[in-house]
Amino acid sequence: MNKVAVITGASGGLGQALAKKLLAEQWELILVGRDADKLKSAYGNKHTQIIADCSQVSGAQHVFEAIRNQQLMPTTLAHCVGNIRLGALHRMQEVDFMDCMQANLFSAFHTLAAFTHHLKQASMPGAAVLMSSAAAQIGTQNHEAVAAAKGGVEALVRSAAATYASANIRVNAVAPGILDTAASANILSSELMREVAAKQYPLKGIGKAEDVADLMAWLLSEHAARVTGQVWSIDAGFSVIRPIVK
Ligand SMILES: NC(=O)c1ccc[n+]([C@@H]2O[C@H](COP(=O)([O-])OP(=O)(O)OC[C@H]3O[C@@H](n4cnc5c(N)ncnc54)[C@H](OP(=O)(O)O)[C@@H]3O)[C@@H](O)[C@H]2O)c1
Repeated sequence: MNKVAVITGASGGLGQALAKKLLAEQWELILVGRDADKLKSAYGNKHTQIIADCSQVSGAQHVFEAIRNQQLMPTTLAHCVGNIRLGALHRMQEVDFMDCMQANLFSAFHTLAAFTHHLKQASMPGAAVLMSSAAAQIGTQNHEAVAAAKGGVEALVRSAAATYASANIRVNAVAPGILDTAASANILSSELMREVAAKQYPLKGIGKAEDVADLMAWLLSEHAARVTGQVWSIDAGFSVIRPIVK
């Protein structure tokens, strides 16, 4: 494996934190986003930038065609695309449910498919890390859509890890609790809402994208060479610790 990484959702909060972390560790970056202006405002003209919508098959395939055309050979993928659509099951509109599935599950499927195809064609080993959420692991009110989508991502990770283990391609996911990024901006839009959100977690406070980026960078690195098919919780204990009821 070399130190060349594809980051999708690179204009987002987590994508930017991961880019910063990998750069500090001397990785070469290929940044993918839907909006050229957003990528430019985050990174200027630095790094290879590819404009594509990874939630569509054609978009995910375009990323690796562009990579081939530029004779680049990334061996790692961090798929940071996704959104959070909240609302009780009986009130969720079909359009919002489909948007949630498209951004979180379908994008992961299509991008991982295009990435593994790229590695198989080059007979190269590699590593991918996908995004789940604490909501996939423990019942959380009004999270039905995102829980269903991220639960699908977790199942995808285990199956793909099995399929590609013999090719030495590792597939893992991380499952954060709430993070201070654009995806959760409407849940954290006032001091009171931030306090209420923070209280839900056994370890107090709101998660930082930088902490998740550290874990993702490790999963992509040689240090995690024996790690595949795993979902790593990074949620301040939310998914496994019972709160003390006072
Ligand atoms: N923030 C949290 O509290 C939290 C908690 C658990 C898990 N996560 C997961 O962490 C990942 C990163 O999110 P973030 O916190 O960095 O949020 P963010 O700042 O909103 O970034 C999300 C990224 O996903 C892209 N994206 C959104 N919808 C898309 C779609 N339909 N098709 C293609 N791209 C789309 C956006 O690209 P554009 O710039 O092109 O719009 C953006 O770059 C997501 O998978 C999210 O579900 C977040």
